[in-house]
Amino acid sequence: MDSLLIKGAVPLHGEVTIGGAKNAVLPIMAATLLTAEPCVIRRVPHLSDVRFMGQILTWLGSDVRFEGDTIRTQARKIKGAGDYDLIRKMRGSVCVMGPLLGRLKKASVSLPGGCVIGARPINLHLKGFQALGARVTIEAGYVHASAKRLVGSAIFLGGRAGSTVLGTANVMMAAALAEGVTVIESAACEPEVVDLADFLNAMGAQISGAGSPTVTITGVKQLHGAEHEVIPDRIEAATYAIAAAATHGEVTLRGARAEHMRAVLDKLKDAGVGIERRGADIVIRRARRLKPVDITTLPYSGFPTDVQAQVMALMALTPGISIITERIFESRFMHVSELTRLGADIEIEGPSAIVKGGKPLSGAPVMASDLRASAALVIAGLAARGTTQVNRVYHIDRGYENIDGKLRQLGARIERIEEP
Ligand code: EPU
Repeated sequence: MDSLLIKGAVPLHGEVTIGGAKNAVLPIMAATLLTAEPCVIRRVPHLSDVRFMGQILTWLGSDVRFEGDTIRTQARKIKGAGDYDLIRKMRGSVCVMGPLLGRLKKASVSLPGGCVIGARPINLHLKGFQALGARVTIEAGYVHASAKRLVGSAIFLGGRAGSTVLGTANVMMAAALAEGVTVIESAACEPEVVDLADFLNAMGAQISGAGSPTVTITGVKQLHGAEHEVIPDRIEAATYAIAAAATHGEVTLRGARAEHMRAVLDKLKDAGVGIERRGADIVIRRARRLKPVDITTLPYSGFPTDVQAQVMALMALTPGISIITERIFESRFMHVSELTRLGADIEIEGPSAIVKGGKPLSGAPVMASDLRASAALVIAGLAARGTTQVNRVYHIDRGYENIDGKLRQLGARIERIEEP
C-alpha cells in the first residue's frame, strides 16, 4: 500500500488547476446508461473512483473509453444487474440504479454497506423508486427494483440530515424516462445535482428547478447521446485553499468556481485568510495570524461535510477554541485521533469536536481512514515540523487527482512511497 512522506513547515506557493468534480462525474457517467447513443464527458478527473465507475459501466455492457480527461461511452445494450464486488468497492456506484430502472425498468445491485463515515442508508432512494411505481425488495444482500411502467409522482426526499445527493440523482435519472411529471420536494441543491440535470437535459430530458429544493421532471420517451464538461471540484479547491492557509502560503486556484464555494470561502475569510477573485481564479493568501471559527456542516449551500476534516486541521493550527459540528454523517471524526498523534488538542463531544488550537504540530506516521480524513492529515503534515508519513493513501487517490504531484508543484516536499 502506497504512503505519502511529507517534510512539513514549507509554505505553498504557486498555481494549482482544479480538476473535474468527482461527485459530479460519477452520476453523470451512470446517466450515460440511459441511452444507446454515444456520450462524451470532458474534464474527467483521473481518480480511482472514476476508474471503478468505468469498470461498472463496462460490466453492465457499455463500451467505455478513457482518452486523457475525456470519457466516451456507448451503452448499446445493457443488463440490469450490478456485480457485488464492484459496487461494494465504491458506495457512489449505487447511482447506477436510477438509470437501469429508467431504461430497463429493472435494476439489481448489491446493497451498499455502511462505511467509516457513517451508516449510509439508501432508504430515500428506494422510497423515490417506489413512488415512481417500482416494486423494491431486498434479498441476500441485493436490492431489486422493477416496474412494468414508471409513472411520475410527487416525491418528498427529506431525511434525518436533510436531503440526499445521490438519492436526488437516482430519482431524477429514473424519472427522466417515466410517464408524466415527477416533482421532487426537498431535493438536494448541491452543484453536482445541477451538473447532472444539465447533462440529462442535454440528452433530451426535461428537468427544471435543479439547484432548488423543488425539481420537476417531465418524463420523455427516450434520451439521446450528449456531450458535457464536468464542473470543477469545489471540494478539491477548498482543500488546496485550506492547505495554502495552513502553511502561510499563497496559492492561486485556477478554474475554481467561487460561487460553489461560498460557505467555505466565507468561513476562511472570517478566520482571517485573504481571498481575492482574479477572473476565473481565486487567490488564497495567509498574511496574518488566524482566528478560530465555529463551523457546522449542513447540506448545500451550508458548509460541506466533505471539507470538515480539512478545516479541522486548520483550526488545530489556529490559536483559540473552535467548535466543529458534524450534522451530515454521524461518525465522520476518524481523523481526530490521527490529528491528535501529530500534537493537535481535539476532544469529541457528541456531534461536535472541540478544537483547542495553536499547539505546535510535529510529524508522525498516521493512518488515512477515508478520503477527506486523508486530506486533513496531508494538510496537517504540510504544516507540521518534521516528517509525516500518511499511510493507506489509496483513500486519497479515490478523490484527489495526482495530489502529490500538484502539491510538489506548489513547493511542498512530498513524495509517494510505492509498495509492491
Ligand atoms: N441518508 C438517508 N437515507 C438515504 C440517503 C441518505 O438517511 O437514503 C442520509 C445519510 O445517512 C446522510 C445524509 O442523508 O446522513 C446525506 O447523505 P447523502 O445521500 O446526501 O450522501 P451521498 O449522496 O451518499 C454524496 C457524496 C459524499 C458527500 C455527501 C454529502 C457522492 C459520490 N458522494 O454522498 O461524498 O459527503 O453526498 O454531501 O456524491 C466524499 O466525496 O468524500 C463523499 C463522502
